[in-house]
Amino acid sequence: MEISGNNAIFVGGASGMCRATAIRFAEKGGKVAILDLESSDGASVAKELNGIFLPCNVMDFDGMAGVMDEAVKAMGGLHFMVNTAGGGGAQKTVKRDGVRHSLADFRRVIDLNLIGSFNINSIAAEHMQHKEPNESGERGVMINTASIAAFEGQIGQVSYTAAKGGIAAMTLTMARDLGSLGIRCMTIAPSLFDTGLTAGIPEEASQNMTKGAAFPRRMGKPDEFAIMAISIYECAMMNGSTLRIDGGQRFAPR
Ligand SMILES: NC(=O)c1ccc[n+]([C@@H]2O[C@H](COP(=O)([O-])OP(=O)(O)OC[C@H]3O[C@@H](n4cnc5c(N)ncnc54)[C@H](O)[C@@H]3O)[C@@H](O)[C@H]2O)c1
Repeated sequence: MEISGNNAIFVGGASGMCRATAIRFAEKGGKVAILDLESSDGASVAKELNGIFLPCNVMDFDGMAGVMDEAVKAMGGLHFMVNTAGGGGAQKTVKRDGVRHSLADFRRVIDLNLIGSFNINSIAAEHMQHKEPNESGERGVMINTASIAAFEGQIGQVSYTAAKGGIAAMTLTMARDLGSLGIRCMTIAPSLFDTGLTAGIPEEASQNMTKGAAFPRRMGKPDEFAIMAISIYECAMMNGSTLRIDGGQRFAPR
């Protein structure tokens, strides 16, 4: 897919990996809409990129359709959506005190990551289907964010692993569902990345958490996610897969 003159929605685009992707997309001449929490830096990021900011919460499942409609109308269509809104919880299946994992907490993490992602993907695809395809028959591309915890979840990450595993698992099915419309769907699964989400992790702890990587043994940089996301958008053969971006790291049990 071409970038110049095309339109993209970045959900979670006020910070970290999604912001870095929005910057690359705008630098190549694309139009951007930043969708993020009202409390985020979305307005200033959008201004910097000559784009628009629309406050949203992906947990407001009904409200997201209206916000995305507004973004698509303002830009005149939709070709690309990147979604990083998400996060985890830390709780074991049975906790140290012998009490089982809170079901409400488990459900919250599934809602935020898995239901939130599916909801905005289906809304985005509904819009993309109406665009004229390009000369290769492509109408749009959607990228979700899992984690390498989808494949080797650490102790205390059971809800996060279930949610991110769900995102990885639905990727091929969604790509198959949308293939006849010329819409591609991919997922990126990062290891530890240096973003707003991990800003509170002390240097020593992050070194310890990345020491098992093959190379490089450090946190990933948001722009390294952006390079991959833009490559996915530009390469028509990238479809239906979850790509790890992890320096060869495999998480240990803890
Ligand atoms: N940073 C890491 O080490 C890492 C590793 C693996 C996976 N991930 C995944 O990446 C995503 C986080 O991205 P990041 O690391 O660039 O973090 P980040 O905090 O820099 O950016 C995430 C953005 O999402 C927004 N957001 C959060 N909840 C939202 C909601 N309910 N509705 C709308 N927007 C919301 C935040 O305001 C923020 O701007 C999550 O899905 C996380 O699970 C991160």
